Amino acid sequence: MLNPKVLHHTESARSLVLLRKSFVSGHGGAQLNIHGPSPFLRKKLRNCAVRCISGETKAVAETVVGKSLTIKAVVSVQIAAGGFFSNLDLEKGLDDIGDLLGKSLLLELVSSDFDSTTGLEKKTVTGYAHRTSKENNVVKYESSLTVPEDFVVGAVLVENEHHKEMYLNHIVLEGFINGPVNVVCSSFVHSKSVNKEKRIFFTSKTYLPSETPNGLKRLREKELETLRGTGVGERKTNDRVYDYDTYNDLGNPDSSAELARPVLGGSQHPYPRRCRTGRPRSEKDPLSEKRSSSTIYVPRDEAFSDLKEENFIGKTIKSVLHALLPSLETAVIDSELGFPYFTAIDSLFNEGINIPKLKEHGFSFTSLLPRLLKTLAEKGENILLFEVPEIINRDKFSWFRDEEFSRQTLAGLNPYSIQLVTEWPLKSKLDPEIYGTAESAITKELIEREIKGVMTLDEAIERKKLFILDYHDLLLPYVNKVRELKGTTLYGSRTLFMLTHDDTLRPLAIELTRPPKDDKPMWRQVFAPGWDSTSCWLWKIAKAHVCAHDAGFHQLVVHWLRTHCCTEPYIIAANRQLSSMHPIYRLLWPHLRYTMEINALARSLLINGGGIIETTFSPGKYSMEISSAYYDQFWRFDKEGLPADLIRRGMAVEDPTAKHGLKLTIQDYPFANDGLILWDILKEWVSDYVNHFYPSEGSPVETDEELQAWWTEVRTKGHGDKKDEPWWPVLKTQDDLIQVVTTIIWVTSGHHAAVNFGQYHYGGYFPNRPTITRTNIPTEEPSEEEMKLFLNKPEITLLKTFPSQIQATKVMAILDVLSNHSGDEEYLGAVSERAWSDNPVINAAFERFNGRLKELEGIIDGRNTDLNLKNRSGAGVVPYELLKPFSEAGVTGKGVPYSISI
Ligand SMILES: [Fe+2]
Repeated sequence: MLNPKVLHHTESARSLVLLRKSFVSGHGGAQLNIHGPSPFLRKKLRNCAVRCISGETKAVAETVVGKSLTIKAVVSVQIAAGGFFSNLDLEKGLDDIGDLLGKSLLLELVSSDFDSTTGLEKKTVTGYAHRTSKENNVVKYESSLTVPEDFVVGAVLVENEHHKEMYLNHIVLEGFINGPVNVVCSSFVHSKSVNKEKRIFFTSKTYLPSETPNGLKRLREKELETLRGTGVGERKTNDRVYDYDTYNDLGNPDSSAELARPVLGGSQHPYPRRCRTGRPRSEKDPLSEKRSSSTIYVPRDEAFSDLKEENFIGKTIKSVLHALLPSLETAVIDSELGFPYFTAIDSLFNEGINIPKLKEHGFSFTSLLPRLLKTLAEKGENILLFEVPEIINRDKFSWFRDEEFSRQTLAGLNPYSIQLVTEWPLKSKLDPEIYGTAESAITKELIEREIKGVMTLDEAIERKKLFILDYHDLLLPYVNKVRELKGTTLYGSRTLFMLTHDDTLRPLAIELTRPPKDDKPMWRQVFAPGWDSTSCWLWKIAKAHVCAHDAGFHQLVVHWLRTHCCTEPYIIAANRQLSSMHPIYRLLWPHLRYTMEINALARSLLINGGGIIETTFSPGKYSMEISSAYYDQFWRFDKEGLPADLIRRGMAVEDPTAKHGLKLTIQDYPFANDGLILWDILKEWVSDYVNHFYPSEGSPVETDEELQAWWTEVRTKGHGDKKDEPWWPVLKTQDDLIQVVTTIIWVTSGHHAAVNFGQYHYGGYFPNRPTITRTNIPTEEPSEEEMKLFLNKPEITLLKTFPSQIQATKVMAILDVLSNHSGDEEYLGAVSERAWSDNPVINAAFERFNGRLKELEGIIDGRNTDLNLKNRSGAGVVPYELLKPFSEAGVTGKGVPYSISI
């Protein structure tokens, strides 16, 4: 178990001593200047001077330095790919000389306070930092600076005089009477040769806008202006601009008409916004942006791949997509070939697939993808060999059984779809003129027959015993369109379950529907588990279709749309409107890290036209449109928190006397049971935090202009297609803010982890969760030949329904990588942020947060050994660990990171 409580930075307060001695002489020529106006100006302006800082004219105070302190600034620079230190070229040589002379990194200390006599900004204190040491991937620069004794540092301006960007981890200023001052940078600092603007870094002290010290007000505004940008022009790699755009880059109409895709975002296909890149318009479709052959722009500090370990997830995904899958395509020549026998599926785990040896690109693929790739030394070939997924490891046959099919709706990869049936008959809301009869073909008689006289249908509904997976109305409008695509099919589906006396679900019926088209009438059929061979096999095949609907809904809606995609607007708005010294920015930031880069990667290779999703999931090129249809009809911010989501699906009701204030409809609902504890832990932490910065007396949420601007932008720009919805929460009180922030944090941590890190455990054996069904069920207008095959060899019909070999193996490889925790994964509540630990009240709240998360580990372990909890414990059952907060590296099926980083 990994559950450390470690600070991000090694320079803890206790290791630092008060330093009053000058460092100048002992540190080889660090430069020191107290900037002031020229003698001419000084003379002219007496006590008040005008000079230039960061390219801007402003008034500064000119006072005589009284008592002074000599302080040491230690800058920690991380070696990053592509940045300074990365290679030995000509510029590097020049930069080395610059470093040697100690003139490559200029620091400028800015006072928090105005000069008390002049009422203007105080003079800044500048000095060059010079390189002193290098350990592992971190290079230290130091500077000795003399500051007036009453100088309170509020910000440090940094000028990088190297020819390449540098990644600054942090700056520590040692020697002040009240202890060291920490400045967290975590940022790429551009070269002065690219941009003359100095970078602004504020100290770890947190301020609401109204409390901003006078000396920092101008910089606070200026930094936000820089991050908002001008909204025009194509973004360049070094830019730090956050802005909005529609998903108008998924297609590639210039490459082929086949790859034209509609714009997602706007009245026709409502969608959240993504980060604007400003690429030129497509020649064939002026509404679309040209696709770029290189990496898609994200603001510079969102691109973490240059910093992370070699096993950084982005790198592994790129390797799989760029190298492994193309190589696989050459090995499996017939793209439509399915698996001839079930034993052929098993061979993926014991023999593997020989693929041509992958060309190395400065790193070894086998060491980057050790779980997937092995080398055949004698032949010099690579073998793609899959690990046995947990579901098969524990019970080879569970995927075939109804009880496992039901159990996974409560404790599997998608616990977000199951809902209570509250009305009968089941009815579609779609137009019957277009989509056929609205009323379901699942009858009362059929249900009562399946319940076998235990109770009537009315009693079952009354006693909350009937549940449904409803993929009817969302999918039906796409059925005819999808069926025109090659190698895939689709139905609208409804699957009904009955809650048994021991709190498990039993499937009763599946209804598959095809709407009318041209001269063909609507087709639909209801399948039940059955007691004869033909019914049993039809039931298995109908289940395969439902599993594919569930796998698609999970990936496109529950995973991509509701976590990755909906979070991007929160990130963009936070950077545009909340200063990095704002308490809510500092609370949210660890939850928003890495997401923009991983989303850009998804746009580039996974969800794009002709990408992995379109070629391996049933809806094909309509996949993303379906996620837009869901967003349009169902997504609501106020229902994204766990309690509201459970209530919306009828899986819980409010009950002030119950734990968490909710009574679950199914007591043994592992996702909900563990999730509600996690929700409470998050809410307590957020409440402690918010109530500290917005105490009930004073500091009102309502008048915090940055906070209000952030929330307004989330609603009206990032989620602008929903801006007129009445359900948006209003940020008036502390409680409003706590609810909004807890919801965002839940989505990025608990929700995402629950639907992400079990992907290989459950989807790695594709018969359990096929992503596509390629053929219709044999009773839907079968040819003579198809019916004959089904009756003679139903196993082959099922295998033909499943994904092809190339589709299955592609998905397995991707799911394996997506389920992986890297060695430096950042788990929720494991590591404190500097700004949190520097504040004693927040630090104590964080300790409680961390402690409760450790407690949750034990609670989940205990639940998984309780045989009374049949949905998570029992013979061959995969225990429910997806919401266990911590994990070791690898594909573990547990661990909740702070943010959506994969
Ligand atoms: Fe994810």
